[in-house]
Amino acid sequence: MLKTQMTASQLYNKLKNIKLGASVCQYSLRKCEELIPIITEINELKEKNNAVILAHSYITPEIIYGVSDFVGDSYKLSRDAMNTSASTIVFVAVRFMGETAKILNPEKEVLIPAVLDGCTLADSITPEIVKDLRLQYRDYTFICYINTSAQVKAECDITVTSANVYKVAASIPNDKIYFLPDKFMGQNLKNYMERQGIKKDIKFYSGTCYVHEEYGMDDILKVKFEYPEAKIVSHPECNSAIIDNSDFVGSTEQMLKYMKDTTSKQFLMLTECGLSARLQSEFPDKQLVGSCTMCKYMKSNTLEDILRSLKNPLSRDRVILDEPTRLRALKSIEAMFRYA
Ligand code: 13P
Ligand code: SF4
Repeated sequence: MLKTQMTASQLYNKLKNIKLGASVCQYSLRKCEELIPIITEINELKEKNNAVILAHSYITPEIIYGVSDFVGDSYKLSRDAMNTSASTIVFVAVRFMGETAKILNPEKEVLIPAVLDGCTLADSITPEIVKDLRLQYRDYTFICYINTSAQVKAECDITVTSANVYKVAASIPNDKIYFLPDKFMGQNLKNYMERQGIKKDIKFYSGTCYVHEEYGMDDILKVKFEYPEAKIVSHPECNSAIIDNSDFVGSTEQMLKYMKDTTSKQFLMLTECGLSARLQSEFPDKQLVGSCTMCKYMKSNTLEDILRSLKNPLSRDRVILDEPTRLRALKSIEAMFRYA
């Protein structure tokens, strides 16, 4: 089906099983009818402008199922950005993910419709802090999480995502690693290495994601009491107690794949609500138990913002990077593709 011809009933079919607590994620046929005109306008403009829309799984369902061409985690989306032949990429996520697309595609126009810049994790660290840390830890390899600005990536040796952090860190030859900015992911990486018997000295920074740091053991214990068979599935930005008590840990795309591939019927997904919405839409025979948390940065993308950025981009919608920073950040991202 061509997205430009999508009808309200077809959209409703995709969205009707999504029932998350907040009203932003409850859909009726009437709501879908109201959404169709703007969805059609965006899809027509996309064709006219030779543009593609890449959306992270945390984005609202009407964007994912109405207008996006590629959906996934930050690793998959950076590969999709690298492989597209479109001349414009609209990156519906957070600024640093759009920056990664621009680092990989300097000749393309990359637009970020999100109204809120950054996120708690990306904002926890600056290039100046990294420069100071490098002076303190001179013989360490600096690994940065993809949730950092292009300027921070430019100061680091290797970028990783939640899909490959353990693999990349285990593969690099240096046994001294400084990981930044997420302290929970850093601790989880250290614990993973110890469990695998891989001897590496791992230091890490003190940033956190405000969505994932919300989760505590109480969330697991409550669900296990009511639903003893439920599988606990968590993101590596959660704290170590959660990770140690999870049946599966991975990036959002890997969490989705785990749910798809396991025969279990009940799941507690410890991550942002957007992924839960995708799961309710795509696997209606599986039940999500417990609750989820919203990321205001990801949710600051709306259909209206996407339309604006395609029709009449504001200067803040456009990703512009200075070439020396881009080239240094590119080296760090290319190192990830080599090791992952
Ligand atoms: P993923 O790459 O696993 O989708 O994670 C991105 C993110 O922002 C998690 O908070
Ligand atoms: Fe940042 Fe957390 Fe939101 Fe991901 S979920 S974009 S790490 S604040």
